[in-house]
Amino acid sequence: MSLTRLSVTGVRNLQPVTLAPSPRINILHGDNGSGKTSLLEAIHLLGLARSFRSTRLNPVIAYEHPSCTVFGETQLASGQLCALGVARERGGDLRIRINGQNARSMSELADTLPLQLINPDSFRLLEGAPKLRRQFLDWGVFHVEHRFLGAWQRVQQALRQRNSWLRRGTLDAVSQAAWTRELAQASDEIDGYRRRYIQVFKPVFERTLAALLQLEELQLSYYRGWDKERSLEDVLDASIDRDRALGHTQAGPQRADLRLRIGGHNAADVLSRGQQKLVVCALKIAQGHLVSEAKRGQCIYLVDDLPSELDDQHRQALCELLEQLDCQVFITCVDSTVLQAGWKAETPVSMFHVEHGRITQTTALSE
Ligand SMILES: Nc1ncnc2c1ncn2[C@@H]1O[C@H](COP(=O)(O)OP(=O)(O)O)[C@@H](O)[C@H]1O
Ligand SMILES: [Mg+2]
Repeated sequence: MSLTRLSVTGVRNLQPVTLAPSPRINILHGDNGSGKTSLLEAIHLLGLARSFRSTRLNPVIAYEHPSCTVFGETQLASGQLCALGVARERGGDLRIRINGQNARSMSELADTLPLQLINPDSFRLLEGAPKLRRQFLDWGVFHVEHRFLGAWQRVQQALRQRNSWLRRGTLDAVSQAAWTRELAQASDEIDGYRRRYIQVFKPVFERTLAALLQLEELQLSYYRGWDKERSLEDVLDASIDRDRALGHTQAGPQRADLRLRIGGHNAADVLSRGQQKLVVCALKIAQGHLVSEAKRGQCIYLVDDLPSELDDQHRQALCELLEQLDCQVFITCVDSTVLQAGWKAETPVSMFHVEHGRITQTTALSE
């Protein structure tokens, strides 16, 4: 799946623009503040209906513009074209259109344009809260196992019910037991999907990482959110008094995590920034491989400031992995010379220069 056409209007400092990106490698280069990240932000808006830079969309809308609009045409794995549009008025609602119809849900959009973002904040995946790693894991599970979404919604509903009666104590014992059972069953389903995903993911991740870094001792493991020897129903029954005191359910899939450890330490505590970046890249590239296999379509990679923190050798290794992915990739950098060479002759590479919000295609290195 790749964007064959992209039109952006009213996003940050970008001048209205229509691009025909390469189906493979696209390099955006330009000075600081020229608008490179803003273009990645526009693509992110198209795929996820939100920014990765601010939680609200108003700051994304160009100053003195009433709205921002991103329109894209994607080629699905089947060869069919699909038109996507996302528009947001200042202070207004978000409108999402897929092939001329209003999108029914965000998941429909995410399903149509799977994106992977690698940016200077990505190291948070290692050092940040478990929630970020859970989101990462669930993104992968969602794209390979569609039943995941329904099970996840059941867990959310059952958790809301349980937390509500934990706080208020107003539910009769029979209903409490029924909700606990529902929570346990849906949680087991989620755990099953996540566990199966990790089984397939782990070797792909290890292979990908080995191509970037020598870190044999790095261990990836999955924690399901409750004791692996006991059923969730037992754990919930045993912790009822504590849960009541705290006013919420402690154990369950809402506590799951991916753990990355090196010799008994958290990877984030011992790795350099550059190494962390490469581990995160390996995680995200491995996920792209699995999504591609499951869907026969690929995700689109947005790599902001690829060269930062990386020496020549690691930068080259990362570019090779992105090239092998057979995906559409948008890469930003300040100095284009560091990314110009090294691509295979048959890989179509397009270069775009960004200057004061104006984007011009400088070369299509090969077609
Ligand atoms: N809502 C907005 N309207 C207009 N310009 C904006 C808006 N938000 C940010 N900017 C400006 O857009 C410029 C582009 O930023 P950015 O895309 O981060 O540049 P780059 O990634 O090339 O360094 C910055 O100079 C910033 O001040
Ligand atoms: Mg930038």
